Amino acid sequence: MNTNTTPQEAARSTPGWWTEAVIYQIYPRSFADSDGDGIGDLPGITARLDHLAELGVDAVWLSPFYPSPQADAGYDVADYRDVEPLFGKLSDADRLIAEAKSRGLRTIVDLVPNHTSSAHVWFQAALAAAPGSGERQRYVFRDGLGPAGDEPPNDWQSVFGGPAWTRVTESDGRPGQWYLHLFDTAQPDLNWDNPEVRAEFLDVLRFWLDRGVDGFRVDVAHGLVKQADLANWEEPQEILSGQEVDKPRPPMWDQDGVHEIYREWRRVLDSYDGERILVAEAWVEPAERLARYVRPDEMHQAFNFEFLLAAWTAPAQYAVVTRSLEATEAVGAPTTWVLSNHDVVRHASRLGLPIGTPRPNGIGADDPQPDAALGLRRARAATLLMLALPGSAYLYQGEELGLPEHTTLADEVRQDPTYHRTGGAQRGRDGCRVPIPWEADAPSYGFGPTDASWLPQPTSWAEYALDRQRGVPGSTYELYRTALRLRREHQLGRGTLRWLESPDEVLAFANGPLTVLTNFGATPLPLPAGAELLHTSAPLDTDGHLPTDTTAWLHTP
Ligand code: GLC
Repeated sequence: MNTNTTPQEAARSTPGWWTEAVIYQIYPRSFADSDGDGIGDLPGITARLDHLAELGVDAVWLSPFYPSPQADAGYDVADYRDVEPLFGKLSDADRLIAEAKSRGLRTIVDLVPNHTSSAHVWFQAALAAAPGSGERQRYVFRDGLGPAGDEPPNDWQSVFGGPAWTRVTESDGRPGQWYLHLFDTAQPDLNWDNPEVRAEFLDVLRFWLDRGVDGFRVDVAHGLVKQADLANWEEPQEILSGQEVDKPRPPMWDQDGVHEIYREWRRVLDSYDGERILVAEAWVEPAERLARYVRPDEMHQAFNFEFLLAAWTAPAQYAVVTRSLEATEAVGAPTTWVLSNHDVVRHASRLGLPIGTPRPNGIGADDPQPDAALGLRRARAATLLMLALPGSAYLYQGEELGLPEHTTLADEVRQDPTYHRTGGAQRGRDGCRVPIPWEADAPSYGFGPTDASWLPQPTSWAEYALDRQRGVPGSTYELYRTALRLRREHQLGRGTLRWLESPDEVLAFANGPLTVLTNFGATPLPLPAGAELLHTSAPLDTDGHLPTDTTAWLHTP
């Protein structure tokens, strides 16, 4: 082997790279800003790629950077084959993909097939065309109920709050049909029964595959197909289908018809070289139902949100890890793990809330505040637990800095449509999307060349800046770097988990040569005799015992 080969380059040529990959999510608005307008961009990302190579991840996933009015921060796509001017040009995307590749990093892009932006040419054409026209049939248009058609076609609610239907004005100026939007009004749902829609997305896949991307993260993968009769659904709307296997599923989520779409996509990906992958964002429970998305001829991976949602207790973590492994093994797929992303409260803050708190959709200044020190301590323990598990793991930008949620954002600066559509009842997701700190003493903490930042950064963030943590023993950044190095050296991603006997409030397992212990209890845990400590999320106590909320990686004799 060429001695200049980086570990990432070596991994690139390993078959099934994705089965064990650590994939780093970049939220382009908030990663790095090259031009000082306060919004991150593609050249900014390219200039910071060395950070990711040094951290030791295998791939990046970029949240959407396509032309978009930004009604939902880019998840409202107006053109699937170009780059939003705020973020750069198509040539910047090409350069980013190439520069990542030269560092041994793969690139995964976001694909948003459930809905387009209302600014998309197709939707504009649908508005201009008549009811029943081909243009309307690319979306889900229906006549309203009641004699005047002024009631929505059914009772569905939008995930962001309010009704999932909006009435249009026809070209003659009269109130007309209604269109479905499971999310914002600016995100009309596509009609996946229409072959034209299917053909269009096959072409979009090829467009990006030809440009060299290694895969797609598929947004709302469980939503594309709706139950044909659009039956009413009295339950409150949630993106999580959350149903037992034998209970009726909500008519808008996880319909069996979605799978044929992914089988067709898989055939396209498989016709390219280099193991390109599909990753499902499917908020589907239970794990057996989610596993259907990763059957051998469908997607490669699905995000494991059940793991993200699991309570910080030994029994809950034991149960979710066991269930996740069993469910994916049953279909021959690798498991994935994730603790944070751009839609949830960052785990350094989430885990600082009392155990059992229901998943908050954002935290505001008037809400109970997380215990920051406890949250970070648990987050570090949770991360070491996660990175020791076999399978593939997802990291969200800034978690390697131990970054907390911004929990006191002023209401006036909030941009998430969830906040506005629920009249502020849901704080929304802005708090996990704040631009990240790179240099403690630079304007916008080095996010960009100016002070500008599309969401304000808390004044306390200097201490989380990368330059305050690099080379500092015990920092969260060094914790991640060491964990990723050891994970690679010991091939933990392709290992096998074996549970070990342990006290009730301790999780203990072996993966390859490693023993992993997480102590959830109040009693410090003596380490096994003769154990060699390889890594730990917090120092051992003065007796050499593993304190509460701490994970250790050991070699045992
Ligand atoms: C997914 C995205 C989220 C977006 C929604 C609608 O859940 O992760 O950010 O708002 O889809 O596209």
